[in-house]
Amino acid sequence: MSCENKNDHYSAALSAQDIEKYLSKEIYVRVFDKIDSTNNEAKRLLENGFRGKALIVSEAQTSGRGRLGRTFYSPEKTGLYFTVIIPGNMGFANAALLTPAAAVSVARVIKRESKKNVKIKWVNDIYFEDKKICGILAEAVTDSSLNDLAGIAVGIGINLSTVDFPKEIESVASSLDIKNADRNFIAASIAKELFSFAENISERAFIPEYREMSYVTGKDIFVIKGEQRYEARAVGIDNDGGLITELSDGSTMILRGGEISVRVKDISR
Ligand code: BTN
Repeated sequence: MSCENKNDHYSAALSAQDIEKYLSKEIYVRVFDKIDSTNNEAKRLLENGFRGKALIVSEAQTSGRGRLGRTFYSPEKTGLYFTVIIPGNMGFANAALLTPAAAVSVARVIKRESKKNVKIKWVNDIYFEDKKICGILAEAVTDSSLNDLAGIAVGIGINLSTVDFPKEIESVASSLDIKNADRNFIAASIAKELFSFAENISERAFIPEYREMSYVTGKDIFVIKGEQRYEARAVGIDNDGGLITELSDGSTMILRGGEISVRVKDISR
């Protein structure tokens, strides 16, 4: 087999037809060769009146986005970049639970299909061997006529076999090192898990696994909130997916997603 570039891959092309085989008919599936961002596309759909379930996938993204205004490196074929649209009739508080639900969906499918022992780094990253191999970005679109949400775009980016990362992320990013993944099946399986959790989101069925797979619990961390940075110890996850931390004065503080990120102290990432 000839090498196209350093980010070589051997997996089959993405195809809407293949993905649809694994999903129920009501789910709208769209596959792009290249797009700015699958989350942008999902938001465009919702802003133009789409109200249903969808799975938008792309071989590559030119403006892949992460939390806190970061970019998400999305080269062609060596990763899986997709957005699941979840109907918005669940209210804002429940919508916030979709990030931990998505993390458990991704981790479950990766573990099942690759047998790799991945962990969830609060709040939205999946780690393999102390490096980030997946990020999740959930974005809500509101519907003013309903005074509720039009839908939630849950974007997921997984590095399957990417090796050639940009300098600024090469010390923290990695891949699962899987070159023959059936990306159609993986995207459909993760979406299926997430749709199923979303159906009864208030039951929080994913929380026990979110706790079990936590990468940070029991570790000393840096909490970063804008310019603020302080040390704490991660001691658990609460029922809403918040990170329970203990500060040096013995007090407890629960961190909620939003603008906060954490770094594990001993490896500074
Ligand atoms: C993060 O690392 O903070 C989250 C990264 C989320 C990346 C995915 S890739 C598919 C979807 N489209 C985007 O632009 N972002 C998400």
